[in-house]
Amino acid sequence: MESKFTGTIRKFRYGDRRDIRRICCETALMGQASSIFFEDDEIFADALTLYFTDYEPESSFVAEAKGNVVGYLVGSKSIKTMEKIFLRRIFSPLLSKSLLRGTLIKKKNISLFLGVLRSIIKREFRMPEFSKEYPATLHINIDKDYRGRGFGSRLIADYLTYLQREGAIGVHFATISRKASIFFAKEGFNLLYEGKRSYFKHVLREDVLIHIYGKKLNNV
Ligand SMILES: CC(C)(COP(=O)(O)OP(=O)(O)OC[C@H]1O[C@@H](n2cnc3c(N)ncnc32)[C@H](O)[C@@H]1OP(=O)(O)O)[C@@H](O)C(=O)NCCC(=O)NCCS
Repeated sequence: MESKFTGTIRKFRYGDRRDIRRICCETALMGQASSIFFEDDEIFADALTLYFTDYEPESSFVAEAKGNVVGYLVGSKSIKTMEKIFLRRIFSPLLSKSLLRGTLIKKKNISLFLGVLRSIIKREFRMPEFSKEYPATLHINIDKDYRGRGFGSRLIADYLTYLQREGAIGVHFATISRKASIFFAKEGFNLLYEGKRSYFKHVLREDVLIHIYGKKLNNV
């Protein structure tokens, strides 16, 4: 792996915003495009990346190859703060924007909302609280053509060093990708929880397992 790596990892700059939003949409469902299950890239990218790029940009990193951004790791030192800001500052404007754009009445999106509603009724979102022991979080994606070349591993390493310097005691996050789970286990994350989710059944024809991974950190 070491010999294949020919890129650069650096801190996020505001000019990377467009690339992060693009990669987020192109890799959303286990490495495949969000358009498979959601119609409106602008709203999708806002929902998944706006907090990180606009409210806590200092906690994010990008991977570059030949001067182009080919991957990112967006993070937060405190998932609780992130959730608060999302609810207070992002959610309402995002809802208004979605109403104006007609996002909520697109067929694919209605199917997804119904799936999520079904999951809520089935109590699939109930799970243990990990943010006390593992307060930080992350979200990582690499462009298709650049996977398996060490970018993900380097992004994780730089982010964990950053978190340790910032005094974070732990980090946790979710993934539904089995392939990404192998990657996270190799990176030394522990599986904290696994649970069934049915909201993608209309697209994947099966339930998926959500995996919560975590790692405790020693401060430096
Ligand atoms: C998962 C992902 C972030 C990993 O990044 P990456 O740059 O491809 O991974 P690396 O090249 O740094 O690999 C590091 C190690 O993990 C292993 N690994 C990475 N992806 C793997 C996969 N899909 N299957 C099995 N092992 C994998 C590598 O073989 C490597 O092991 P080694 O050090 O023993 O050689 C990236 O492949 C990706 O974005 N995938 C699609 C979207 C996704 O699933 N994102 C995560 C959502 S939470």
